[in-house]
Amino acid sequence: MHYSFPEGFWWGSASSAPQTEGESLSHGKTPTIWDHWFRLQPERFHHGVGPAQTSTFYEHWKEDIALLKALNHNTFRTSVSWARLIPDGTGAVNQEAVAFYNQVIDELLRQGITPFINLFHFDMPLSLQEQGGFENRKVIDAYEAYARTCFELFGDRVTHWFTFNEPIVPVEGGYLYDFHYPNVVDFRRAATVAYHTMLAHARAVKAYRERNDGGEIGIILNLTPSYPRSQNPADVKAAHIADLMFNRSFLDPALRGSYPEDLVALLSQYDQLPACQPGDKELLAAGVVDLLGINYYQPRRIQCRDSQVNPDSPFMPEWFFSAYEMPGRKMNPYRGWEIYEKGIYDILTRLRVEYGNPRCYISENGMGVENEQRFEQDGQIQDDYRIAFVRDHLKWLHKGLSEGSRCLGYHMWTFIDNWSWCNAYKNRYGFVSLDLESQKRTIKKSGEWYRQVAAKNGFDE
Ligand code: BG6
Repeated sequence: MHYSFPEGFWWGSASSAPQTEGESLSHGKTPTIWDHWFRLQPERFHHGVGPAQTSTFYEHWKEDIALLKALNHNTFRTSVSWARLIPDGTGAVNQEAVAFYNQVIDELLRQGITPFINLFHFDMPLSLQEQGGFENRKVIDAYEAYARTCFELFGDRVTHWFTFNEPIVPVEGGYLYDFHYPNVVDFRRAATVAYHTMLAHARAVKAYRERNDGGEIGIILNLTPSYPRSQNPADVKAAHIADLMFNRSFLDPALRGSYPEDLVALLSQYDQLPACQPGDKELLAAGVVDLLGINYYQPRRIQCRDSQVNPDSPFMPEWFFSAYEMPGRKMNPYRGWEIYEKGIYDILTRLRVEYGNPRCYISENGMGVENEQRFEQDGQIQDDYRIAFVRDHLKWLHKGLSEGSRCLGYHMWTFIDNWSWCNAYKNRYGFVSLDLESQKRTIKKSGEWYRQVAAKNGFDE
């Protein structure tokens, strides 16, 4: 069968500034929470590898853009580093950073690759985290000023903007489950950070629209379908609560401009609601996006709790549900995550049926592999497993399109093997392999395959 995609479909990949740029503390850049946490606890990072060890996009940007071109990308997402552009978090702009991002944007455009620019990929400047990060409303002001600066500097050429990547991840990591700085475990504080993040998002959306630059602005959400273990009402309810907490807490404000009533009722019942101020409601309503980025890796398999929660324990999402390992589910043997390709179709269908079919695209989807060097032959990684992974997800995306979803493109995570937070280089995801020592780049077999798919705007199966 031939799978062809609509004309102008976005073929590309995604990355981020903190994971690729390098030059972590030079050329005017100040520390982010990652630089800081690595200094405090290097043992929390896989093999003790911290944010300074990257593919050094800061130096190799031209070579990397040539590789993107070689892979036939027509679009590419990266982010701006707030701590590089505005070293104190607020105030003076670092002109060296402006020159760097101008070069990158101009070169992408010269090569016919549309830049998608994200403003925040988990990399809070330390100076602002020291003021409480997004727990502090003043940081919302700082974020808005930073967003305005980006629009002012680059908005004449950048037409696709995103306010946040996976905003729930710093909330879960930093305030619930201890895998990001500041390593707090406190639901109420987590809810406050989540709420303020969406207020910041809405401020940026408003600021962008006021400019009338003619481009579009969105947000990138990691959507994890929550499938109940059974149709038993208790399992269905558990999956519904997981969905409210992990998907709809960001999806509803982004697409409907307000929070789901049952989420508000649940949090208020347990006294976990963040403090609201007059005007917040109107602001959130102004934050409805033009374009939704969907990151999809794996679903959540949910069951109702089989034991009672100790009523004296602190409130946690797991009061209401637990995850279970569905027998027979397909796993990525090299990363440990479930592979469920149909999830991408389920997300698109839900958006079409329940959310008015918004303009969207797959902004991340990919397969992490440990010790990927073992698959090298004649100097190239033979990653047939990744080809199968991307192809099978694209088939389900294609089905979504055939049923009317407005999915405009597909971005693989990621272009080049990159540094991934606490996991550092544990799981490799790239179309291009990176030798960290020599900085040598080599296109993997999957990259060659994707090059053809993009050229033909489809594939045969
Ligand atoms: C995505 C993030 O969710 O997962 C990326 O947006 C991250 O920043 C990627 O690198 C892979 O994560 P991991 O834990 O498998 O390295």
